[in-house]
Amino acid sequence: MRIVALVSGRGSNLQAILDAVADGAVPAELAAVVSNVPGAYALERAARSGVPTAVLRHRNFPDRAAYDAALAELIDGYRPDLVVLAGFMRLLTPAFVARYHGRLVNIHPSLLPAFPGLHTHRRALEQGVKLHGATVHFVSEDVDAGPIIIQAAVPVLDDDTPESLAERVLAQEHRIYPQALAWIGQGLVRLEGTRVRFARPLE
Ligand code: GRF
Repeated sequence: MRIVALVSGRGSNLQAILDAVADGAVPAELAAVVSNVPGAYALERAARSGVPTAVLRHRNFPDRAAYDAALAELIDGYRPDLVVLAGFMRLLTPAFVARYHGRLVNIHPSLLPAFPGLHTHRRALEQGVKLHGATVHFVSEDVDAGPIIIQAAVPVLDDDTPESLAERVLAQEHRIYPQALAWIGQGLVRLEGTRVRFARPLE
């Protein structure tokens, strides 16, 4: 399975994926890492692992549609089976999402459908939820709302700050993203219409 990862920032999830690919836990090859932000630390992580990198700055494009068309062209040059959003901080157009139907996954730092969008840890504390977590899902047109592949929950503690909670959630992100990619790479999970289908376990 060939993966292209899209990143914007520090790339800790990308690192977890690179490590899982390197140790054979995810049967895949990182074909490229693409960023909209020049200088994103994730690009350094990719380069360190010998993965080709590319930068496509959104500012050079008149609108979202033009950017996403150029992004898709760049991605398709790497012939990926799967496009992995790993902290890619841009909304994607419906045309882009449709082009990669069933081949586009994201990780979100909450137990979806709770807390789509930004500042999930702060909002979880404000709401007083006792469980929080992370979700890996196929990307659909609606933001942070696609069919769910795997979730991990963590307790919210009395003395948590957004930072301490983020750290606890992030540790789970680094576990479940490679797990989801392994399942997809092994053909155990796929998107059928709007439903995630799991292969029946071997008897
Ligand atoms: C993670 O919290 C991820 O869930 C969200 O953006 C953050 C990216 O962090 N989509 P990193 O760049 O993987 O360290």
